[in-house]
Amino acid sequence: MVAASAPGKLILFGEHAVVFGEPALSMAIDLRTEVFARPHTEWLADGSSLKDEKYRYVRRAVEMAWKGGPLWLEIRSMIPLGCGLGSSAAVTVATLGVATGLQGGSVQPEVIARNAFDIEHGVQGRASPIDTSTATHGSAILVLKEARDGLLWKMEKGDRHWFIHHRDLPPIRLVIGNTGIAAATGPLVEGVKRRVEEDDRAAAAIAEIGEIALEGLRALGAKDFVRTGELMNRNHDLLNLLGVGHPLLDKFVTAARPYSYGAKLTGAGGGGSMVSLTDDPDRVRAAIEEVGGRAFIVETEPRGLEVRA
Ligand code: MEV
Repeated sequence: MVAASAPGKLILFGEHAVVFGEPALSMAIDLRTEVFARPHTEWLADGSSLKDEKYRYVRRAVEMAWKGGPLWLEIRSMIPLGCGLGSSAAVTVATLGVATGLQGGSVQPEVIARNAFDIEHGVQGRASPIDTSTATHGSAILVLKEARDGLLWKMEKGDRHWFIHHRDLPPIRLVIGNTGIAAATGPLVEGVKRRVEEDDRAAAAIAEIGEIALEGLRALGAKDFVRTGELMNRNHDLLNLLGVGHPLLDKFVTAARPYSYGAKLTGAGGGGSMVSLTDDPDRVRAAIEEVGGRAFIVETEPRGLEVRA
């Protein structure tokens, strides 16, 4: 049997704008998805059919990377599904890792990240490589329009391209508030595209989010959490302007802010999750729970994809 695991992610700055090629900053979090695989007489995922829609990322990953007969796959995940924390990227990357490991191949992160991006792009219809690169590499990922120090790889789709960089961030604990509403990323991404085509203010918001991501990285690197928090708050307002907010996210953000440097939705939105940067994670978690949210504390995760026989 071979097992592979990959982390979830949290976007600190730049979701949605990154799909247009703008800069963005994400970090891997200490919630992981693990996939186990062994050859078997029929295809099974958690004892059920791999044809079930909930296994579409797993199915596409084995179709792409596995050349042998049927497999018995077991998937264990600590990442809440469809909540902006990278559950689909993590299961895709871990499945590609397990298929590579089972065939005795050497795991090349760039190849895995590229294949995982192709799969996510295919399922969502439109995507950036930020989630799949973070699940593959771990640590923190900075997406830029050009190559800088720490370049990992470049990805392209049509006329868009992304330079993916490794960044060291100080270890941080962040609070996640989960609405419990799983919103599909594809339609949200498509909705933003339409809005940008029709409304100049939305196009300007995309550009401003890109600038915020760069300034946010500088502020975080200088441990200037006050400025980082202000930028998170502004990023949240701009995401609302792009139409990917949700009343529950605003409610949790409002509850968290008195005890936070900043708070914003994270990931695709439309439900999903928000994140708070704070010195007092327990207080913020309680504040979100007091208004009816599910909250938990996560930490930065240095480990990306790991495969073991
Ligand atoms: C989703 O985690 C992040 C989005 O920017 C989509 C993407 O980058 O593919 C909303």
